[in-house]
Amino acid sequence: MQQKTVLGIETTCDETAAAIVSADADGVPEIRANEVLSQIAEHAAYGGVVPEIAARAHVEVLDRLIDRALGRAGIGLGDLDGIAVAAGPGLIGGVLVGLVTAKTLALVTRKPLLAVNHLEAHALTARLTDGVAFPYLLLLASGGHTQLIAVRGVGDYVRLGGTIDDAIGEAFDKAAKLLGLGYPGGPEVERMAEAGDPERFGLPRPMLGRREADFSLSGLKTALRIEAERIAPLSERDVADLCAGFQAAVVDVTVDRARVALRAFSAAAGRPTALVAAGGVAANGAIRRALAALAGEAGLGFVAPPLPLCGDNGAMIAWAGLERLRLGLVDDLTAPARPRWPLASEAAAVPAG
Ligand code: KG4
Ligand code: ZN
Repeated sequence: MQQKTVLGIETTCDETAAAIVSADADGVPEIRANEVLSQIAEHAAYGGVVPEIAARAHVEVLDRLIDRALGRAGIGLGDLDGIAVAAGPGLIGGVLVGLVTAKTLALVTRKPLLAVNHLEAHALTARLTDGVAFPYLLLLASGGHTQLIAVRGVGDYVRLGGTIDDAIGEAFDKAAKLLGLGYPGGPEVERMAEAGDPERFGLPRPMLGRREADFSLSGLKTALRIEAERIAPLSERDVADLCAGFQAAVVDVTVDRARVALRAFSAAAGRPTALVAAGGVAANGAIRRALAALAGEAGLGFVAPPLPLCGDNGAMIAWAGLERLRLGLVDDLTAPARPRWPLASEAAAVPAG
């Protein structure tokens, strides 16, 4: 197969993104442009993403961003082999903006449309950055999702565990809000935690030791709130210690849950080639270090995308599009926008013990 080049469009949440990724005859990728415009400033005042504001902001900048990506890659629309777009899951207004734009481009250029699952794009990013071979264990952790998944191939995912309440990123965001820190909360909590004492507050480790690889984080959030209210008003030191305690609890729970998923992995998919982290939470240094140590214990490599590719971006959408294009998995112009779109429908049986 000769070189293929795909445009990737991402508008499912609060980043508008457009990227150009090529893969050579051997499938070796090159990110030729990766334009991301964050709407953080527009949502910051509300402490979270406001769907209508997000959709409008995507409309305003997407065309320009696509032009800029093409310009940076030094190509025109006619040089593309496909138009990939995140068709969900996400906020419906934003998804529609990206999908209608991609369909229009596919129609006028007569190139194939690749309607990509946003979660699949996060899941496959480790193959773009590090060429990780199937199968691998994936911790997918973002603002909306927390799942441990056996990635067996493109479109072939087995869910080994997930959160029964808050996503990890969501828990970080809520902790930050509670402590008067900015949005998004993950980076703020991580920054404050650096100077804090993780042992001062004995915060709980929900689900630790359970034999299913599931997460539950709402109890931890409640414990954090109770401690914060007990010692209010909070000094900077208090906030740092609460952040450090919260992050340490999340790290312990995450490693324990990933360890359980590693045990369940072989029944679902054989021996993994690596432990992979993806999604915005994979930017967290403490979580990365702890997962790298766990992978080391299991004799596996650990792969987490470089920071700009952890959060939402267009390169991961273009890459997932390339992976699908290579397998002939193209879509037509009837592809729906899907606010909900689970990556893995099948729940794996958990072995006894
Ligand atoms: O994948 P992403 O960019 O967007 C989606 O939710 O799809 O993930 C954003 C989430 C937010 O909840 C944010 O607080 C969290 O990832 N996050 C972090 C860090 N950086 C971003 N959580 C913990 N530590 C971080 N350094
Ligand atoms: Zn995401």
